[in-house]
Amino acid sequence: MGCGKGGRPLTFYSEIKGISFNQAAQELGARIGIKVQSSRRRTRFETEYEIMNRTSEFYQFALYNTSEGQKALEYLYKRGLDDETIKHFEIGFANKDFQSLAKTLISFDYDRDLLTKLGLITQSEKNQEYYDIFNNRIMFPIKDSTLNVVGFSGRALSSKEDAKYINSMETPLFKKSDIIYHLYEEKDLVKEKDEVILFEGFFDVIAAYQIGYKNGIATMGTALTESQARLIRKSAKTVLIAYDGDQAGIQATNKAVPKLKAANLNVNILSIPSGMDPDDYIKKHKKEGFQELLQNNVKDSYRYYYDDILLRLDVNNANSVQDFQSSVNILFNDANQIVKRMFEKEISDKLGFPFTFSKTVEAPPRELPQAEKKKEKFRADMHSNAERDLIIELLRRRNHLELIKSKLIPNVYVVLENYQILEAIVNYYERHDILILTDFFQTIAPTLREHLEGLMQQSFNWQHGLILEENAVRKHIELVESYEIKREIYALQQELDYDDINKANQILKQITDLNRELRKKTKRS
Ligand code: UTP
Ligand code: MN
Repeated sequence: MGCGKGGRPLTFYSEIKGISFNQAAQELGARIGIKVQSSRRRTRFETEYEIMNRTSEFYQFALYNTSEGQKALEYLYKRGLDDETIKHFEIGFANKDFQSLAKTLISFDYDRDLLTKLGLITQSEKNQEYYDIFNNRIMFPIKDSTLNVVGFSGRALSSKEDAKYINSMETPLFKKSDIIYHLYEEKDLVKEKDEVILFEGFFDVIAAYQIGYKNGIATMGTALTESQARLIRKSAKTVLIAYDGDQAGIQATNKAVPKLKAANLNVNILSIPSGMDPDDYIKKHKKEGFQELLQNNVKDSYRYYYDDILLRLDVNNANSVQDFQSSVNILFNDANQIVKRMFEKEISDKLGFPFTFSKTVEAPPRELPQAEKKKEKFRADMHSNAERDLIIELLRRRNHLELIKSKLIPNVYVVLENYQILEAIVNYYERHDILILTDFFQTIAPTLREHLEGLMQQSFNWQHGLILEENAVRKHIELVESYEIKREIYALQQELDYDDINKANQILKQITDLNRELRKKTKRS
């Protein structure tokens, strides 16, 4: 009042703390126990998100309020979950009446084709009626970075069912190679710890959560992709792999480590004894036992593989020493100087004479030739530059606002912050005719502000006051959108495994389809 500035308490709070209006509402709400929903995203997918969120609520209701749901609930209790955990993961139940979800959603007047496209219902060819996709399954909702539900995984109640889990099909919102279970639900904690624990199964994430390890995540039964690794890196610097303690878990670890490292993550590995998975282990040894395991059985990825190589070393056998030398040279090829020095000392002690790593060694076998890797990186730059130029254009004027807005899709952008900034700009224009930079800066979080300043410094268009014509804007949007397809193709290429020829054929077909889609997209321009 004294300084003559008017406004509401929320604006006041957001201004003195330098945070956004929404953040202020959330913080103040938390103090008095009101959960403020984060701002509704004005995206092309608003209705889709709404449907998915409502479906999740429908399943949650059925778990607690129907007699079939009661059985599912008892199953969850029997597996050691308590109500708080069930609520946190928003676990639900799909009844086996085959039509209850379809009827409910249709009664809300949602477009049947859209419901079908979202993988929730399907039309019978026999009687043209709509049926639920998920029946008699425990439902785990899966969320994206906007914390909206984008897909489901349904677990069978009995082992008699064919498939233990059924996952949502690929939909505009649900790209399996880019989805990570529970990556965003505990954002703040993950940020604070700067670490996530990567599990194989949902139940591992959940069991760990319940004993206080809340930063658990999982991929959904598929091998980790490079793009998932990059998504993890956006949330944390370190990942602890806690895969099952069986042969499959060890193999999955071997496949995941190079991908995580390529994404610039620090990798630690937990070994779980005697074929157990983390869920089993926690059930058997409780919180204290798991804690102890984490203290004793975690190794950094270098140590993990070094110890394994060591098992095969016989210091009295020249051949063995030679093999050892070549193995450690490969293992530490990408290590930095300090790590190399640390292990050189250890290896010297072990061998009984001074040891140094070779200066140049053959690169370790990679899944993709180096040239492919470079291409992918180059392409990503191309796409993120397009994202930047769209931002710069909108900062300067609102001429192409509607066009850009209509194509604003989360999870497509190479750089998450670019999406967040575009969204903030669109929201800003809802309330203002022109964008005043200093004023706009007040509405976004400090980290975003920093990011935006970086973009402006890099941008030739900004420095030279250039603007984009509509055609150029369209081209930029196409570039942004096509990255999604390219990324999917790339993820599929990573999964190619010619040992399993059927699966390889299936993947190759998917790649061909995507390439066709890509060509169609770019031809239009
Ligand atoms: P698990 O078999 O380890 O599942 O598969 P789980 O979650 O630990 O389940 P429980 O403890 O046996 O009940 C690991 C993950 O692989 C995916 C799921 O995401 C699962 O969490 N999966 C598994 C499938 O997608 N389909 C399947 O048929 C099985
Ligand atoms: Mn399990």
